[in-house]
Amino acid sequence: MTKPKILVTRAVFPEVIDRLQQHFDVESNQEDRVFSADELMAKLRDKDGAFTTGSERMSAELIAAAPTLKAICNMAVGFNNIDVDAATRAGIMVTNTPDVLNETTADFGWALLMATARRVTESEHWLRAGNWKKWRYDAFLGADVHGATLGIIGMGRIGQAIARRSMGFDMKVIYHNRSRLASDLEARANHAQYVSKEELLRTADHVVLVLPYSAQTHHTIGAKELTLMKPGATLVNLARGGIVDDAALIAALRANRIAAAGLDVFENEPAFDPAFLTLSNVVLTPHIASASRPTRLAMANCAADNLIAALSGSVPPNLLNPAVRQKG
Ligand code: 8YV
Repeated sequence: MTKPKILVTRAVFPEVIDRLQQHFDVESNQEDRVFSADELMAKLRDKDGAFTTGSERMSAELIAAAPTLKAICNMAVGFNNIDVDAATRAGIMVTNTPDVLNETTADFGWALLMATARRVTESEHWLRAGNWKKWRYDAFLGADVHGATLGIIGMGRIGQAIARRSMGFDMKVIYHNRSRLASDLEARANHAQYVSKEELLRTADHVVLVLPYSAQTHHTIGAKELTLMKPGATLVNLARGGIVDDAALIAALRANRIAAAGLDVFENEPAFDPAFLTLSNVVLTPHIASASRPTRLAMANCAADNLIAALSGSVPPNLLNPAVRQKG
């Protein structure tokens, strides 16, 4: 029996490629070339499945040009890179990798929050540049994290994991979300209080963004929202580029309208706005919130599980579009 044909769009753990090869005729990309949209289209034309990452744009046009495609399995919890409606119309299953990355991503949210509030990277760059000649009472004064008010926008599983960690810092947690959480979930999330976005921005000392990107959440934080924030507040974006209006944030940081920002994601990444590099009050990381070895391996295996299920006639565990009609 001939095996279904799949494309793995980017380099991935070799053991996961080995696993996929037991089930599929695999076209891999272990040299990790970034394909153009036209190359991707050509490669997908005869494929039954695609193992993708958040970096590939799976547009309606590309989907329409892949007549045999039955499943797109994204190695990411976010799936804004995929036109899910177009996939559903074409009978293509779409899956993501929820849950396996919650705790690792929440850990990193704290790393960014602490580094941003306490000016860790800024002071390290200063030290490395040979500037440390004497101690000063006011060197790199930062914002306190303990006892402060933490505002979380997007209180899904990662937001809740971040809130739980705040218990050890005696923080008050406020949150804004599409809908209010059940009271037992609020209690477990350090007794988080549901507030409007405006109240959160006006009262939080540290604002963390963990909401999914969509047309509705585009520029959730723009010039107007940044003006509402406290002058000493910090902003952390762990979610997606486009949730924050980066030009507005650069202007606010430059004018010290807020104290600092910690950013793991950017508009148009990896080609982010170079103006960020001219600012000292920003911590910049290259989209690594889920990047621990066990978690990235779990994400890759989760995407593989979904693809194996989808192409063997089972319902994949993380199917995002159950309305899809199975293609023959
Ligand atoms: C991934 C992410 O590293 O899961 C997500 O949505 O943003 C990250 O964990 C990235 O998207 C890899 O595909």
